[in-house]
Amino acid sequence: MEYLKFCFVFSCWMKFANSLSSTDAPQAPAPIPKEKLLVLTVATQETDGFHRFMESANYFNYTVKVLGMGDAWKGGDVGHSIGGGQKVRLLKEAMWALADQEDLVVLSVDSYDLIFAGGPEEILRKFQQANHKVLFAAEGLIWPDKRLADKYPSVRSGKRYLNSGGIIGYATYINRIVSQWDLHDNDDDQLFYTKIYVDPLQRQTLNMTLDHKCQIFQNLNGAVDEVLLKFGTDRVRVRNTVYDSLPVVVHGNGNTKMYLNYLANYVPNTWNYEHGCSHCDDNILDLSQLKEYPNVLVGVFIEQPTPFLPEFFQRLLTLDYPKDKLKLFVHNNEVYHEKHIQKFWEENRNVFSRFKVVGPEEILSQGEARNMAMDLCRQDAACDYYFSIDPDVMLTNRQTLKLLIEQNRKIIGPLVTRHSKLWSNFWGALSLDGYYARSEDYVDIVQRKRMGVWNIPYMAHIYLVKGQVLRNELKERNYFVLEKLDPDMALCRNARELGVFMYLTNRHDFGRLISTANYNISHYNNDLWQIFENPLDWKEKYIHQNYTRIFTENHMEEPCPDVFWFPVFSEKACDEIVEEMEHYGTWSGGRHEDKRISGGYETVPTDDIHMKQIGFDKEWLHFIREFISPVTLKVFSGYYTKGYAVMNFVVKYTPERQAYLRPHHDSSTFTINIALNNKDTDFQGGGCRFHRYNCSIKSPRKGWTFMHPGRLTHLHEGLPTTNGTRYIAVSFIDP
Ligand SMILES: *[C@@H]1O[C@H](CO)[C@@H](O)[C@H](O)[C@H]1NC(C)=O
Ligand SMILES: *[C@@H]1O[C@H](CO)[C@@H](O)[C@H](O)[C@H]1NC(C)=O
Ligand SMILES: *[C@@H]1O[C@H](CO)[C@@H](O)[C@H](O)[C@H]1NC(C)=O
Ligand SMILES: *[C@@H]1O[C@H](CO)[C@@H](O)[C@H](O)[C@H]1NC(C)=O
Ligand SMILES: *[C@@H]1O[C@H](CO)[C@@H](O)[C@H](O)[C@H]1NC(C)=O
Ligand SMILES: *[C@@H]1O[C@H](CO)[C@@H](O)[C@H](O)[C@H]1NC(C)=O
Repeated sequence: MEYLKFCFVFSCWMKFANSLSSTDAPQAPAPIPKEKLLVLTVATQETDGFHRFMESANYFNYTVKVLGMGDAWKGGDVGHSIGGGQKVRLLKEAMWALADQEDLVVLSVDSYDLIFAGGPEEILRKFQQANHKVLFAAEGLIWPDKRLADKYPSVRSGKRYLNSGGIIGYATYINRIVSQWDLHDNDDDQLFYTKIYVDPLQRQTLNMTLDHKCQIFQNLNGAVDEVLLKFGTDRVRVRNTVYDSLPVVVHGNGNTKMYLNYLANYVPNTWNYEHGCSHCDDNILDLSQLKEYPNVLVGVFIEQPTPFLPEFFQRLLTLDYPKDKLKLFVHNNEVYHEKHIQKFWEENRNVFSRFKVVGPEEILSQGEARNMAMDLCRQDAACDYYFSIDPDVMLTNRQTLKLLIEQNRKIIGPLVTRHSKLWSNFWGALSLDGYYARSEDYVDIVQRKRMGVWNIPYMAHIYLVKGQVLRNELKERNYFVLEKLDPDMALCRNARELGVFMYLTNRHDFGRLISTANYNISHYNNDLWQIFENPLDWKEKYIHQNYTRIFTENHMEEPCPDVFWFPVFSEKACDEIVEEMEHYGTWSGGRHEDKRISGGYETVPTDDIHMKQIGFDKEWLHFIREFISPVTLKVFSGYYTKGYAVMNFVVKYTPERQAYLRPHHDSSTFTINIALNNKDTDFQGGGCRFHRYNCSIKSPRKGWTFMHPGRLTHLHEGLPTTNGTRYIAVSFIDP
């Protein structure tokens, strides 16, 4: 809309101008044909920024001549200090041959940090409107010599100072400017142009001005707050809201490179609402066309106690990728996890082409460990990719590695988010001090309302780097150790400073990030306690595979009247609860005197351990509310349970101690009774009998629970366990 509005206003203006010209003003000049525009840019290397520049130029069919490609850069560190003279020298050399083409218009621009937002016709039209022979980009900040400020002509509104990142003018005039260059490659280009511009005589004879109101050139330095993205039907532009202009050239000068990266995720047609991502399938690497899959070094960094580590390794194992093409490097900094790694290693050491573990005894810092793994790939010419993954990343998409490789970027990570939270593994923007800032599109990317491949300033937890890039752009070592920064921040900072773009893809659902906060490892099976912190992973690990079928297919049984029987726990849940209780070890002994309960006397005592004794009562009650209450509502329709229970315990039946329980009522509205192990393999006998109906269930199923009313109708007894040990978990709900 805004674009249309601009055109509309512009055409009015043209009509107005033409109506004037037909009477007293000279005839408006004919438009300059677009063939008469030549873009010159200096680039000594094909950086990612350079490729992006060329893509935007090609999109608009600009004719571009690149100067200096392959030359050594001697123009100084322009990001941090003065320099850039080499650019003027090269331009001077190029202009020498072009100077006599009087109708040629030359656009000289930077390329590493610059994109086009509009085409040649538009830029030429605006150049003609400006009615000067040479037009420089303008900015509000003066650089590099503040003392020259007073010499600048004052402007009533608009930006006052010259920026040399963009110059447009007739070849003859540009030549007259750059032919004055006789300085060194590391002298400052902007200072050179500025001195010519602030000289009133030169300004007039060379007919120079600045693009004060960003009609053509938008420098972002000091102006980030002035610009917005404007989405059109098939093109996205940058709009300057102060001057209400649509600049054609957008320049991420100074420390606005990250902001330019953000804009270039959209401009000129990278992504829009109509078509989504338009370049996501460019340069795809088709793995199915390769004779062999690439070799990947997988680095896993266990730097803190992490829930669900065995599940993490299982997911790694189930990635759809030939395992003989994977080398695994594991840094484990936690003694607690040694048992998990040992087990995985024993079972899978021959599955991968190599399996190296660096344990806590080596006392490596996280940064050193990450450097070590990256070096393994860097120094091995056969290593095609380095895939770094932290164990808090649960990859639910088995294609992840293939998808990342196919996307074919130097550094790319998949989006992973904390389940149902806005927390993720990337930042959309950086604050000026290099820390987190939220970008306008962050939420849409996290929620996958905008899908694509995004150039972003920071990511962590999981990413893929090309081996080639490690041996070229990132060939210096020790990327992860940088003062005051955590290792991932250090890596990203280094990549940014080297101009290597980092991408995040959210084109697919890849997986999630789990929470490592509040992971208490003082229990025996600590993941059992994760029901609050990581509910989804808890459910996957501990709830029976067929639990949800209760609701979708009425997957339950009623072996005796009003005794419902359904699956609730996984094998793991059963085993870990039993282990936890045996680890605690203090069984009550089935005595009537019981200090654990109010009154201190139990009429029908069992040999048991209360959930509370192992500190599992809050988690257990949450489990009842989340997984038992919905079933209650289904079978006892109209009864809304409070899901409250005081008596929650595991009972152990064994012929040596207590083998059975005499007939009794429970102090509950209803009771659940979950079998924690298997008849015949773990014990003989056992079961439950309901007297009123003369109904016995003699083959309890591990992980399945009975649910029955506690009082009056359901007098019941525990049948004798004749051999082995039988465990059940019991809760008296709504006492
Ligand atoms: C660029 O040129 C191609 C081929 O001539 C043409 O199809 C395309 O529309 C042009 N693009 C623009 C933005 O003018
Ligand atoms: C600058 O050049 C334009 C034409 O390109 C001309 O109309 C204008 O008068 C010139 N201005 C000066 C100060 O020479
Ligand atoms: C971890 O669990 C133990 C045992 O239940 C408990 O004593 C301790 O306070 C817990 N630690 C934290 C930090 O919650
Ligand atoms: C779930 O049900 C299916 C089909 O009845 C069965 O094959 C499978 O073994 C069940 N899963 C478990 C863990 O019992
Ligand atoms: C209970 O059922 C069993 C067989 O299932 C039968 O042998 C027994 O006689 C029944 N007892 C009563 C009191 O009905
Ligand atoms: C009791 O269990 C043990 C081991 O579980 C087994 O060796 C033994 O034969 C069982 N005894 C009877 C009487 O079934």
